[in-house]
Amino acid sequence: MAQAQALATNPTSNITPDKVREGIDLEINGRQFRHTGDADMPLLWYLRDVLRLTGTKYSSDHGLGGADLVLVNNKAVSAITLPVHELADKKVTTVEGLAADDGKLHPLQQAFVDENAIGCGYCTPGWLIAGVDLLNRHPQPSDNDIEQLPNLCRCGCQTRVRRAIKRAAAAISGGHA
Ligand code: FES
Repeated sequence: MAQAQALATNPTSNITPDKVREGIDLEINGRQFRHTGDADMPLLWYLRDVLRLTGTKYSSDHGLGGADLVLVNNKAVSAITLPVHELADKKVTTVEGLAADDGKLHPLQQAFVDENAIGCGYCTPGWLIAGVDLLNRHPQPSDNDIEQLPNLCRCGCQTRVRRAIKRAAAAISGGHA
């Protein structure tokens, strides 16, 4: 009788909280996430379908074309080939995380705007990630360095992309962009 009265006044009193679900802790664009689903899920689908970070694009099942690149510990990596379980304790940066917290574009993003290096835009996030990785490795990249990037552009923006990467290199080094 007493229990029935308690339930009537507090219907949640007999609910036992679930244990905290185990999962994979991820750091993406400086924020912490816990993935409790399929550990083999490719990062690309976690970003796009779970977090709704849709900047990173599908290129192919093997990442050819470069539209699915993200930075993992500051190195460009294909997100379709990377299962989430390999990302514990690593830092992921997507195109959404390139700008500063105050919204100021990364110098390479600004250079893409200034050089009008964006056609349909599908390939652009991948170029930006590959370009940031390249500029980290080669602050003054040569034409050949840029041509070695795996990215493809069906809109024919390669020449303007090359100019944008060089403009960003100049801006980052303090020269006139
Ligand atoms: S801008 Fe359209 S595919 Fe590159």
